[in-house]
Amino acid sequence: MVLLPTLAKGVIVRRPGVMALSEKLQADGTAIDTMRHLRDRYGPEPVRLRITGRSVAMLVDPADVGRLLAESPEPFALATKEKKAALKHFQPHGVLISEGTSRERRRELNERALRPENVPVDAIVRDEADLLTRHVMSTGELTWDAFAQAWWRVVRRIVLGDRARDDEQLTDDLKALRENANWAFLHPKQRDLRERFQRRLDEHLGRAEEGSLAAQPGDLAGQVPHWLFAFDAAGIVTMRALAIGGRGTYGILESARLWPTTPVILRESTKPTRWHGTWLPENTEFVVFAPFFHRDPDRLPYADEYAPEIWDRPLDPAIVPFSGGPGVCPGRDLVLATGSAMLDALSEHLAFPKLTAPLPRTLNHFGLRMHATPTGTRVS
Ligand code: HEM
Repeated sequence: MVLLPTLAKGVIVRRPGVMALSEKLQADGTAIDTMRHLRDRYGPEPVRLRITGRSVAMLVDPADVGRLLAESPEPFALATKEKKAALKHFQPHGVLISEGTSRERRRELNERALRPENVPVDAIVRDEADLLTRHVMSTGELTWDAFAQAWWRVVRRIVLGDRARDDEQLTDDLKALRENANWAFLHPKQRDLRERFQRRLDEHLGRAEEGSLAAQPGDLAGQVPHWLFAFDAAGIVTMRALAIGGRGTYGILESARLWPTTPVILRESTKPTRWHGTWLPENTEFVVFAPFFHRDPDRLPYADEYAPEIWDRPLDPAIVPFSGGPGVCPGRDLVLATGSAMLDALSEHLAFPKLTAPLPRTLNHFGLRMHATPTGTRVS
């Protein structure tokens, strides 16, 4: 019940219609309250559910979240049965669903390639932000569509190089492929679309353009689809950060805390494990429902506020917008660099009204339309 709204929103691709509806219903809010109720009723032990014959355990204790993430990938594997089913058509070689030594190799490649210093992030963002700023000054408002167009140009340049800047087809195809992956169990493989996507991607990667991630050594082809796609979440987080007056890397982190773009973190145990005195069997699927831990008013006085200062102090082990432990998002620093550069570049010339506390528990980014006033600083 808690998971249903999250699944409908599109674990793999966010669907505009469903997002608008869940904002109306404040779906995450209902799920958070359900989790609070379960915790109050059953205490800190993981809540056990039986779903289609699987042993599923939802964590409710923040310390348990810290342990689960720290003890990955052994005995808590990242590549769970559900993740494999959802992604196998689309990213058979992605690190997300890799195991054993191929996981180690791919993980290492990701960590090395995704360092922000590998790409001139600031210069690329500034370029595209200037163009967007001019557009916003002429219309008087910033819409999601205008933002997304600029964002994807930034992403294509960072990942594949300047010559991929205008290849909207590539990222549109990727989106269409992922929409089908949402219903991984039902959809036949979309071969033509995938071939076209792969062809274009290979062309871009073949150039190995200097100043882009494509110039990094190693077999990137299996990883890049996930990189491109994961930047979708980074754009959403950045736009939401603008809406709360967020600045710098803490602005991005707060936006991702308040509205986690990976609301569900999953692990599967490779052996029986003990929790608060109870043994849970091997192959238990562990679920961390991040919105509950990030927005729990019983525990966090700042639950529904923009509170960048929390990132200055030792953090609650269950505030995990980028996950944690050995499985932490390897793109985290790149996302923080890109998102905060965009916040800074846009805020230099434009001022936007801020959402105030209590911040809504669901925020439909597709519907964001922000009135903008020039700050008086000239665009170069
Ligand atoms: C706001 C933006 C993003 C957020 C909030 C985010 C969050 C996450 C989270 C929570 C996980 C871990 C899931 C788990 O523990 O099972 C993850 C994994 C991953 N992320 Fe990100 N991510 C973002 C953007 C990106 C970007 C832009 C890239 C690449 C350019 C990226 C690359 C990866 C990869 C490769 C993994 C898999 C790691 C593994 O399985 O070892 N992420 N991300």
